Amino acid sequence: MAFLELERIRKRFGDLVVLDGIDAAVAEGETLVLLGPSGSGKTTLLRILAGFETPEEGRLRVAGEDVSALPPARRNFGMVFQHYALFPHLDVGKNVAFGLAARGVPAAAQGSRVAEMLALVELPGFERRAVHEISGGQQQRVALARALAPSPRVLLLDEPLSNLDPALRERTRRQLRAVLRRVGITAVWVTHEQQEAFDVGDRIALLDGGRLQQLGTAAELYSRPASRFVADFVGQASWLGGRRVAAGEVEVAPGVRWRVAADAGAASAGEVAVMLRPEDACLVQPATGVLAGRVRASRFTGHATEVEVELDDGTRLLVASHEAVPAAGSLVGVEPLAGRSSPRAFAPAGGDGGAP
Ligand SMILES: Nc1ncnc2c1ncn2[C@@H]1O[C@H](COP(=O)(O)OP(=O)(O)OP(=O)(O)O)[C@@H](O)[C@H]1O
Ligand SMILES: [Mg+2]
Repeated sequence: MAFLELERIRKRFGDLVVLDGIDAAVAEGETLVLLGPSGSGKTTLLRILAGFETPEEGRLRVAGEDVSALPPARRNFGMVFQHYALFPHLDVGKNVAFGLAARGVPAAAQGSRVAEMLALVELPGFERRAVHEISGGQQQRVALARALAPSPRVLLLDEPLSNLDPALRERTRRQLRAVLRRVGITAVWVTHEQQEAFDVGDRIALLDGGRLQQLGTAAELYSRPASRFVADFVGQASWLGGRRVAAGEVEVAPGVRWRVAADAGAASAGEVAVMLRPEDACLVQPATGVLAGRVRASRFTGHATEVEVELDDGTRLLVASHEAVPAAGSLVGVEPLAGRSSPRAFAPAGGDGGAP
């Protein structure tokens, strides 16, 4: 059952269409991540949900109620922003209490709610601390406590970790995610980082140029990307040209035929672009019927060695190898592993880029 429903949301700034008819539904307690490159419309969509921007078209419903015309304060949504946005002149406790008075919570009850929220974000007893006395990660946890204190119906987060250094970012990410799960709140979380999206999202809505490219779980986006854009944005992908020769079979070089994933897109015959994930391929001895190339470079990543193989026509493929890698310049064969989600066929570049 959808709790938060977005229907055909359309927004333009001047001549620029920033959101081009976004449909999405978020289940109660679910975290939906809005993922996409810079300028794809993530923040604009979040601001429309919050009520800070008005779309030209579209509806927003919460638990069946149309809230499209409600001002921000009456939507009862909580927000956490990129910048800590805590009030520097108020201590931590007063920051967390901020939304409570406005909601008519009696002063006597505020203290216990603040204590409960600070315990939730693992900062018990921090009420009297000044904002500048706590770390960036702690400040974002206080911001989360402040947003959750009035029991909002929906929590909106816009790049809540982007001001933190990488080590702190990962720890804070896990802490925020754990709190969202514990509270069971419905959340929309904006990020432009794939790893963050995979880590915190129950499902991911991938935006590009104001259009929803795909909405699904991380595994769905990774294994069954709906378009070339999705395949490239989510994980590593190598591309090579091919020609479909039979159902589920593509010729990627003269005499070299690969089976491609059954539900992969592109027309039933003709030119296709074949996508291959590094971990779905292996290096073999060069032989007849095997795609051949030369090792250009390799890089040890900790769990595998990423090998860059260059074909005769200059196409480069990445292969994750778990064995000793032949020296640069060596002739090698590349074979897809059986039963993986790639290779997959897509309409060739210059086409519509999408799978039907
Ligand atoms: N107030 C505004 N007036 C005019 N154009 C705007 C306004 N706000 C955003 N835009 C434009 O709308 C597009 C989408 O912007 P938005 O901030 O939603 O992107 P984003 O996906 O959040 O990007 P980022 O990852 O950089 O935060 C951009 O082209 C941006 O320049
Ligand atoms: Mg943004």
